[in-house]
Amino acid sequence: MKGMIGIMKILVLNGSPKGDTSVTMQYVAFMQKKFPQHDFKIVNIAQQIKKIESDEHLFGEIAGEIKSADGVIWAFPLYVFLVHSNYKRFIELITERAAEDIFQGKHTALLSTSIHFYDHTAHNYMHGICDDLNMKFYASYSAGMHDLFKEEERGKLLQFSQGFFESITRDAPAIKEYPAIIEQSLEYVPRTDLVPLNTHGRKVIVLTDSKEDNINLKKMIGRFGELMGGQVEVYNLHSLDIKGSCLGCIHCGYDNTCIYSGKDEFIDFYNSKLKSADILVFAGAIRDRYLSSLWKTFFDRGFFNTHTPSFSGLQVAFLISGPLSQLPNLRQIIEGYTEWQQANLVGIVTDEHPNSAEIDGMLRELAQRSIDYSSLRYVKPPTFLGVGGTKVFRDDIWGPLRFPFRADHRFYKSNGTYDFPQKDYSSRMRNYSLGLLVKVPFIRKRVYGKLMIPKMVEPFKKLLAKI
Ligand SMILES: Cc1cc2nc3c(=O)[nH]c(=O)nc-3n(C[C@H](O)[C@H](O)[C@H](O)COP(=O)(O)O)c2cc1C
Repeated sequence: MKGMIGIMKILVLNGSPKGDTSVTMQYVAFMQKKFPQHDFKIVNIAQQIKKIESDEHLFGEIAGEIKSADGVIWAFPLYVFLVHSNYKRFIELITERAAEDIFQGKHTALLSTSIHFYDHTAHNYMHGICDDLNMKFYASYSAGMHDLFKEEERGKLLQFSQGFFESITRDAPAIKEYPAIIEQSLEYVPRTDLVPLNTHGRKVIVLTDSKEDNINLKKMIGRFGELMGGQVEVYNLHSLDIKGSCLGCIHCGYDNTCIYSGKDEFIDFYNSKLKSADILVFAGAIRDRYLSSLWKTFFDRGFFNTHTPSFSGLQVAFLISGPLSQLPNLRQIIEGYTEWQQANLVGIVTDEHPNSAEIDGMLRELAQRSIDYSSLRYVKPPTFLGVGGTKVFRDDIWGPLRFPFRADHRFYKSNGTYDFPQKDYSSRMRNYSLGLLVKVPFIRKRVYGKLMIPKMVEPFKKLLAKI
C-alpha cells in the first residue's frame, strides 16, 4: 500500500464471459469514477480463461498483479447458482498451479450483479474460496443488475467501497466464516450381494465427469448400474463434444436457440437424451467447494432453456464423491436446482461413509425409490428453494426481462407461471369483504378473538368431509 490515504492499487478479477462489455464492469466503472484517487486494474478472467490456462506466462502476469495489489475485488455476474464456469476454472487453476500464496493475507471483497436468483449461494461459495485462500475478506455486495440506475443503491455501493478501502487502510483481519474442508480418503468397495431391481422399462441415464482417478465415483456408478440390472446409459461429459462454455450472449432468449446450435453435440444431447430420461443421475466429485468446472459448464450451457424448467417431472439423483456433508451450500444448490427444475430430487448418496456396506444400502434404496417414484410420477412439493426461485423469475420475466426472454414469456403465459395474486379473485373478494367487516370494532374483536383459529380450519374440515 502506498500510504495511509494515498493511492491504493485495486485489482478487479472480472468473472463475466463478456469481458469489458459487462454489466458488472459498469459497477466497477462507477467505483473507479467515484474513487479516482485509487488505481483500478481490471483483468478479464472468465473471458480469456482458455488463454490463461494455456499460457503460463499470462497466468504468471496475473499472479504478479495480484501480488502487487493492495486489494482484490472478485467482481462477477451470477451464472446458474454460482459464478461462470470459466471463473470456476480459474479458481481451480490457483490450486493446480500452487498459486495460493499470492492470495494469502490479501484484502478482498466480492461484488456481483444478478437478478438475485441464488446470489447467496454464489456469494457463500466465493466467500468460502477466499477463506480457503486465507485472504482478508471484507464483505460481499450483491447488486441487482439494474441497481446502478437508482440513487439510493449507488449510495450503498459507495458506502461499501469506502468501507473496503478503509478496511485495507487499517489492515482489518478477516472474520472467517468457512472452516477448511477436511479431506477424507475412504475407499468404497461394494460388499453386499447384489440383487438387481426391476426397472419396469424406465429409461435411466447417468451423466458424469468421472475420470480414471475418481475410483469411488466409478464404483458408485457401477454399483448403481448393476442395481438397475445394467439398464443404464452412462455418458461422460469428457467425451461429449462441447465446443465452449456459455457466452452469456442471450441468443437463446428468443426461442431457446443456442449460439452453439449445430456446432457441437451439447444441445442435441440435452434435448434428445437427457430430457427423455425417466431417471437422471448426476455423478461427480467435489472440486474445491462445488463440483468440477466441467460440471459447471454443463449447467451454464443448459441455460439455452433460459428460465424454463427442462427436467419437469423427472426423477433426479446425485452420486457424489467427496465431503458434501461439509458443504451445505452445495447441497442447497443441488436442492434449489432440482426444485426449480420441477424435478423430483430422489436423493444424494456420497462416499463419505466409512462402511461400504452402508453405501451399498443407500445406493440400493436410491435406485429403488427412483424406480418407484418414476412409476408413480411422484414429484414432492417444492420448498422455499423452488417456490422462491420461481417467483423471482416470474416477476422478472413479466417485467424487466420479458424482452429479451421472449420464449420464457410465451411459456410462462401458457403454463400458468404468471400466478400473481391479483388474479386470485376469490382471495380478493374475501380480503375486500372481511377487510370492511373488521373495521367495525365489535366484529373485529370477535374475528381476531374467538373466531380466528376455528375459522382457519373450517374449510379444511369441509373438504375432509367431502373426500
Ligand atoms: C447464462 C446466464 C445465467 C445466469 N444465471 C443467473 C443466476 O443463476 N442468478 C441470477 O440472479 N442471475 C443470473 N443471470 C443474470 C446475470 O447474472 C446478470 O444479467 C448479470 O448482471 C450479468 O452480468 P455481466 O454482464 O457482467 O455478465 C444469468 C445470466 C445468464 C446470461
